Amino acid sequence: MSKNINYRTKLNSETLPKHIAIIMDGNGRWAKKRLLPRTAGHRAGMKSLRKVVETCTELKIQVLTVYAFSTENWKRPEGEVSYLMELLVEYLNKEIKELHDNNVKIQIIGDIQVLNNSCKQEINRAILMTENNTGLIFNIALNYGSRTEIIYAIKQVAEQIQANLITIDDINEQMLSNTLYTSNIPDPDLLIRTAGEMRLSNFLLWQIAYSELWITEKLWPDFGEKDLIKAIVDYQKRDRRFGGIK
Ligand code: FPP
Repeated sequence: MSKNINYRTKLNSETLPKHIAIIMDGNGRWAKKRLLPRTAGHRAGMKSLRKVVETCTELKIQVLTVYAFSTENWKRPEGEVSYLMELLVEYLNKEIKELHDNNVKIQIIGDIQVLNNSCKQEINRAILMTENNTGLIFNIALNYGSRTEIIYAIKQVAEQIQANLITIDDINEQMLSNTLYTSNIPDPDLLIRTAGEMRLSNFLLWQIAYSELWITEKLWPDFGEKDLIKAIVDYQKRDRRFGGIK
């Protein structure tokens, strides 16, 4: 556990975001700056992730969702894709005991059926082991794409209509939300993106309708506890009106 963290005193514990989502970008650029292979950037990114999960646990954040691998990331060289998968297995393998001891519940959003067996085994082990935990929900977006998720939800709704279980009039926002991968969690309050890009990259497009966006130039491997606290403090200064007026 962290010590001497004065900047945490700036936080208002009453208005913490329930759900923080993160686009962890910039691993490749971090490595390039150091003349290292991209894989070294991903490994350094894993360390940042470890720290951020620890901080969210300590702050008693309800949900953390991280974009670990998108449906578009398959376009990367095969070696990088398999390294990312191996890193996930290594991460879960190394961290699962501590995560479990800290009452963290691991969930995955995305289609993991296409992943290799060792990856699926490690993921299922982590999900099963932590399924009854009541602390931080650590939601890993893996082979995730928002458009695919929405199409999958629409197909489920269409099937229910076809089977005469519901009618078109039963379709509403709540119903569609309940059909998404994120059905059991609140929408993100705060979306953080590192490495400065001003885009959403097919991440949680439905769920972030009213999320506060916080973008930093810092590359993901350089992102730490202090940055996370800064993002939350800034979030707490925002005036959230959800389309209304005050
Ligand atoms: C984006 O950086 C990052 C990813 C596509 C993968 C994120 C993976 C990690 C943080 C590693 C640890 C994750 C787990 C779940 C163990 P980029 O490669 O697109 O960076 P660039 O835009 O600078 O090239």
